[in-house]
Amino acid sequence: MNILVTGGAGYIGSHAVRKLHAAGHSPVVLDNLSYGHRGAVPNNVPFYQVDLKETDRIEKILREHRIDAVMHFAALISVGESVRQPLLYYRNNTAGAASLLEAMERVGVKRFVFSSTAATYGEPEETPIFETTKQQPINPYGRSKWFVEQILRDIVATDSKFGFVVFRYFNVAGASDEGDLGEDHQPETHLIPLVLFAAMGKRNNITVFGTDYPTPDGTCIRDYVHVNDLVAAHILGIETLSEGDARFYNLGIGRGYSVREILDTAKKVTGKEIPTVFGSRREGDPARLFANSDKVQKELGWQPQHTDIEEVIASAWQWHTAHPNGYKNS
Ligand SMILES: NC(=O)c1ccc[n+]([C@@H]2O[C@H](COP(=O)([O-])OP(=O)(O)OC[C@H]3O[C@@H](n4cnc5c(N)ncnc54)[C@H](O)[C@@H]3O)[C@@H](O)[C@H]2O)c1
Repeated sequence: MNILVTGGAGYIGSHAVRKLHAAGHSPVVLDNLSYGHRGAVPNNVPFYQVDLKETDRIEKILREHRIDAVMHFAALISVGESVRQPLLYYRNNTAGAASLLEAMERVGVKRFVFSSTAATYGEPEETPIFETTKQQPINPYGRSKWFVEQILRDIVATDSKFGFVVFRYFNVAGASDEGDLGEDHQPETHLIPLVLFAAMGKRNNITVFGTDYPTPDGTCIRDYVHVNDLVAAHILGIETLSEGDARFYNLGIGRGYSVREILDTAKKVTGKEIPTVFGSRREGDPARLFANSDKVQKELGWQPQHTDIEEVIASAWQWHTAHPNGYKNS
């Protein structure tokens, strides 16, 4: 299939491009490089520095490359920034997706895979989180994604030939097996890279927010899914997508690790001390967030390969030690 990968110069999108290629598909990348890295996209993959809001230019790309399906990763991803600048998030993530979908409608591209997030569940009423767990996002980032889910439901209700898969990711971590693609977010907000930066001396310490949660060691528990496992689910999703599909799947491994477990494992993997500061809880941080991922396992036959957190952290460590400044001088 010819597949347009939006956000293909970003962390997850670049891994998707590689795996799509390996699976015999032809990816085409669209990214405005607001956060992505040109160096994360191989030279033999068509690349367009285009913004999601440029509907006409996207239409042209869809026609020119006879695109069969779209994998939509492009988005702004910082919860804190979304609270400070909600309109930026609704414009980029929600209106941006609508613009992309409009270009697809003009050309007749009917297959869509969307990166949604566990943030659409907010502070869930139950854990593990099922796809049927009530969605009540608590910040503009989560809502900007939740709105796109609603837009997709509305499209499929009026166009029986359209089909989509929504994946709601938990915490994505790890890097490519070759160690040449990895996480390079600026600023970085995710726990595993931040812990590894502390191990490398790139930051002075790591703050643990809350040690009095009702969990075995008092710190928050989260579900970490390896980026290549996540991408494998997308390929299964797009290859099995049919007209009229409106599918929603959680993507997590179905178990959580605590912040302390991440710190202890990172210490073991890196062999370095990780200077730690213990702070108080942050607002809106639930004690436990982990997925029930039975649905994606049953329906798509997805089986995560990297469920051992040590392996996930080792994979991220390989990338960070080889690229201490990310893509800048790699
Ligand atoms: N990383 C995670 O743990 C995680 C968790 C849940 C959901 N997600 C979702 O996965 C997707 C990818 O996340 P990531 O971690 O790879 O982020 P990333 O920032 O590395 O990649 C996003 C890419 O989208 C591009 N982009 C943003 N806005 C754009 C626009 N208007 N037009 C064109 N390109 C634009 C950026 O330049 C960047 O390359 C996002 O949709 C995010 O919401 C990620």
